[in-house]
Amino acid sequence: MTEREPTTFDNRVTRLLGVRIPIVQAPMGYIAGPELVAAVAETGAVGLVPGSLGLDRVRDDIRRTRDLTAAPFGVNLPIAFLQDAAIVDMIAEEGIRFVTTSAGSPGTFTARLKDAGLTVFHVVPSLAAARKAVDAGVDGLVVEGSEGAGFKSMQDVTSLVLLPLVASSVDVPVIAAGGIADGASMAAAFALGAEGVQMGTRMVAATESGVHHAMKQAVVDAAETDTFLANRHAGRPVRALRTTTTAPYEFEGSGNAMTLLADIAELYEHGNLEASLPQLGQVAGRIDEILPAAEIIRRTLAEFDTTLDRLAALRPTPD
Ligand SMILES: Cc1cc2nc3c(=O)[nH]c(=O)nc-3n(C[C@H](O)[C@H](O)[C@H](O)COP(=O)(O)O)c2cc1C
Repeated sequence: MTEREPTTFDNRVTRLLGVRIPIVQAPMGYIAGPELVAAVAETGAVGLVPGSLGLDRVRDDIRRTRDLTAAPFGVNLPIAFLQDAAIVDMIAEEGIRFVTTSAGSPGTFTARLKDAGLTVFHVVPSLAAARKAVDAGVDGLVVEGSEGAGFKSMQDVTSLVLLPLVASSVDVPVIAAGGIADGASMAAAFALGAEGVQMGTRMVAATESGVHHAMKQAVVDAAETDTFLANRHAGRPVRALRTTTTAPYEFEGSGNAMTLLADIAELYEHGNLEASLPQLGQVAGRIDEILPAAEIIRRTLAEFDTTLDRLAALRPTPD
């Protein structure tokens, strides 16, 4: 079969975000630096600058990304971690047109972001949270299953259940996150009602990702069983790689794995996997190569297309 490569999608996500390809590079502090965000944006897909590192750093990252690409890109605002609400005006002044908001109530910033002319997608882990975000006036949702990396809800629901439930219950467009690493998983997400996908763990292992090679290699080496939800006992679970350092936080009823984040530079800059909390998703078990971001997008689109052909060929014939 000849490989066709669809390069332009026309759906609510691409129209709202002003991009050609509805594949979103997840916002990840230090990992999604200007080089990665620009490399993704250059392909026509969606690059997101992480907004967790403070106003000055975010402004700097926006400007450095702008130096690398003329393509549009967005910003993620993790609401609960925002040190300065002035970041909203700053990103609008810097010409950013869309944001994702996460880790906090959609009621906090949505009106202000909309007033500033921004398109807002809010990250949700449940149907109740999705309804609340829609009521708050968001333009779309990032629906994140609990197999994904990073901060999670206590009531963990995986993408296969969450995605079709939310997509069939709301009128706004949905971007699927959690477990997406290639064209087959993208096609599965679209079958379940998504109009876009977000990749976190897959992009950690991108050539342009701003972390030490050892962290990228950890993605390649991990099995699907090698991540777990740390800190459940503390009410704020986070999916991370099981290492000698992190393993005690799997079943222990005390302690706080978050304290390990103080040493994140040891992990990200020096590659010491035991020094901190390596946030990775279960899909690491399906990733076996470090690749340039453009190649990740290219292969995903090609496989998305062949998957649709494969499914069409599976259609049962009438009796
Ligand atoms: C190291 C790391 C840091 C992350 N930080 C953020 C963040 O600051 N804000 C956010 O909305 N999501 C964050 N995420 C979650 C991703 O945005 C994404 O939704 C998730 O990784 C998707 O699941 P996947 O890893 O299976 O692709 C992070 C993920 C990783 C791996």
